[in-house]
Amino acid sequence: MAEAPVVRLEKDGDIGVIIVNYPPVNALGPGVADGIIECLNKANGDPSIKAMVLMGDGRSFIAGADIRGFGTGRKRPPLGERTYDVMDRSPKPVVAAIHGYALGGGLENAMGCHYRIAVESAKVGLPEVLIGILPGGGGTQRLPRLAGPQVALDMIVSGRHVPAPEALKLGILDEVIPDSANLRQAAVAKARAVADIRPLPRVRDRDCKADPAIFDAMRKSIARRARNQKAPYHCILAVEAACTLPFDEGMKREQELFQELENADEAKALRYAFFAEREVAKLPDLPPGIVPYDFRKPAVIGAGTMGGGIAMSFADFGYDVRIMDASTEALNRGMERIRNNYATSVKRGSLAQDEMERRLARIHPVAGYDGIEDCDVVVEAVFERMDVKKPVFARLDEVVNKDAFLFSNTSALDMDELAAVTKRPEKVAGTHFFSPANVMKLLEVVRPKKASPETLVTAMAMGKKIGKISAMAGNTDGFVANRSRAPFNSEMVILLEEGCLPEQVDKVMVDFGYPMGPFAVGDLAGLDIGAEGRKRRAAADPNYRKLPIADKLVEMGRYGQKTGAGWYRYEKGDRTPHPDPEVAAIIRQVAAEMGVPQRSFTDQEILRRLLFSSVNEACKILEEGKAYRTSDVDVMWLHGFGFPRYRGGLFYWADGIGVREVYNQIANWHQQYGDRWRPSALLRQLAESGTPFRDAKPAPFA
Ligand code: 3HC
Repeated sequence: MAEAPVVRLEKDGDIGVIIVNYPPVNALGPGVADGIIECLNKANGDPSIKAMVLMGDGRSFIAGADIRGFGTGRKRPPLGERTYDVMDRSPKPVVAAIHGYALGGGLENAMGCHYRIAVESAKVGLPEVLIGILPGGGGTQRLPRLAGPQVALDMIVSGRHVPAPEALKLGILDEVIPDSANLRQAAVAKARAVADIRPLPRVRDRDCKADPAIFDAMRKSIARRARNQKAPYHCILAVEAACTLPFDEGMKREQELFQELENADEAKALRYAFFAEREVAKLPDLPPGIVPYDFRKPAVIGAGTMGGGIAMSFADFGYDVRIMDASTEALNRGMERIRNNYATSVKRGSLAQDEMERRLARIHPVAGYDGIEDCDVVVEAVFERMDVKKPVFARLDEVVNKDAFLFSNTSALDMDELAAVTKRPEKVAGTHFFSPANVMKLLEVVRPKKASPETLVTAMAMGKKIGKISAMAGNTDGFVANRSRAPFNSEMVILLEEGCLPEQVDKVMVDFGYPMGPFAVGDLAGLDIGAEGRKRRAAADPNYRKLPIADKLVEMGRYGQKTGAGWYRYEKGDRTPHPDPEVAAIIRQVAAEMGVPQRSFTDQEILRRLLFSSVNEACKILEEGKAYRTSDVDVMWLHGFGFPRYRGGLFYWADGIGVREVYNQIANWHQQYGDRWRPSALLRQLAESGTPFRDAKPAPFA
């Protein structure tokens, strides 16, 4: 049987309906743009057709250019011969009919059309900046003409998806119809209604003027967030060109700027991150076709900071959720904290008051186990100690509907041991949320030995449904994210013993691209928390490398921001960290007591000491079969620890240095510092065979 064409022309009376069919999301893959042009030409040449509709089959209009084609030396038609140029020359009107997504090249094509109609649930946007490029199909020239330069700047520099009703108000769409209406029918009616209107309303013919100050204001406003990056600034330049140059000149400028970005390191790393985020959802060793359970009645146990944040995540994504705590005071305090968190978002302008009330109304406090009997998914988030969690799990197992899934929000405890206290270990898994749970995107799904495939896919899907990126981790101490990060946390304090200062290390990491330095983050989280973990580990492992400087600060009551002093000192009511001579003195004193000679460090050495220690540990995790892919670790670092996205992730960055250089350095430090730098066997193999981290073959999941 001949394959269905990726674009086809159907006739609906006197209207030609051009339909893109390139699953799953109608990206502009091979043949799509040519197909659209062919159908436009055919329809224009057919006297029985008076106007056209452009729409997508399946779940979307058009999701944009085919990202897989970027950086592959792909050929694009010259300016003047692209789909939107053919639309601009079309003697007959074209109506874009949008459902699902019209993103990037999708919206660019829609803006090439003469009219745009969408269903209410559709989203439009120019998200190119998120993959390190700019809209290179006229988006930077047409959107400012359609919605005004300020709106265009905001949308193009942020890359955000704009819901159809808002896009209507902004002038991007002409009409929005309810989801229940028949889009094709409505678009055909619209095409018929405008068939004789002349001249045709072309976006390119509109005026575009701006106050030049808006461009500098935008540059200023992104300075912190976009540091080290080129794409956001190129986006601004391109919109600026739309406001200062004639349309065709502006298109040429857009093209030049686009070409400077497409193959830059930033774009390559961001494309890698895009696909890594999709790969992480795949669980290659499970039987195919397992369908996640479509839960409807979630409950969270424990109304502390984590439990509250998890409940908010469910409510934020439309779920009615119960939150249970044994003590009424704790429950009241928890609800108060949730209300305050939402109120802060309202104050900041990121949440509307009525939306806050709707979300709050979805969170139902319950004071005892009998309020959660009929739940189908339970996320336990009580205090992080096995002796506290075990009785809760045993009780949940007795009380809650026997088909329900029982998940535990733990960051380190043995999930096999916890599952064993229930009679349904096949329905138990770990779901490690990161703090604050309603904000951080990573959900680490921890896989106990007895968990059934359905449990695992349900936990992964649960994360996606509440806006998280789920990543599978093996049941090893600290799981994958925190275990791979732990050596970094030790190394940063050991650097102090050798002569660094917290502010020096923080500056290196902020310059690298982290939003905050690790010591400033420590002060924010509270230094007492890390101290607890160190005590536990030291008790369990006689070879545990102690961190006397960190312990000393905690002994002195320097817990971080909450006590006004930690690695830094803080003025009352101000979160700005100030380097503290007292800390410098403690460091010198402890180093002298330890007999560690002091020396100076280059920025590169600081960066590598921290990140290589984690690369080595992550390799050990992979060789033990506790993670599927190096790219999964990268996703965890992007979404769990704020690793700069335009550097791809921990392993992607290390591949940029080269596996041999990484190994040689680690082997050197092993000689110098001893066992904590023992190179992983997998790392050694990769170095010996010259295999990059991205092609590493981890052990089967254990
Ligand atoms: N190119 C290639 N593949 C794409 C793609 C694209 N633009 N968009 C999605 N895909 C693939 C995904 O990789 C995934 O493949 P897989 O099943 O093999 O893993 C599949 O389509 C489904 O994607 P998602 O899992 O992401 O599906 P969702 O329903 O969760 O999300 C979406 C849909 C919001 C459209 C999301 O896929 C997305 O954001 N896509 C990228 C949109 C984008 O960036 N467009 C601009 C492209 S650049 C451009 O247009 C340049 C132009 O200006 C010249």
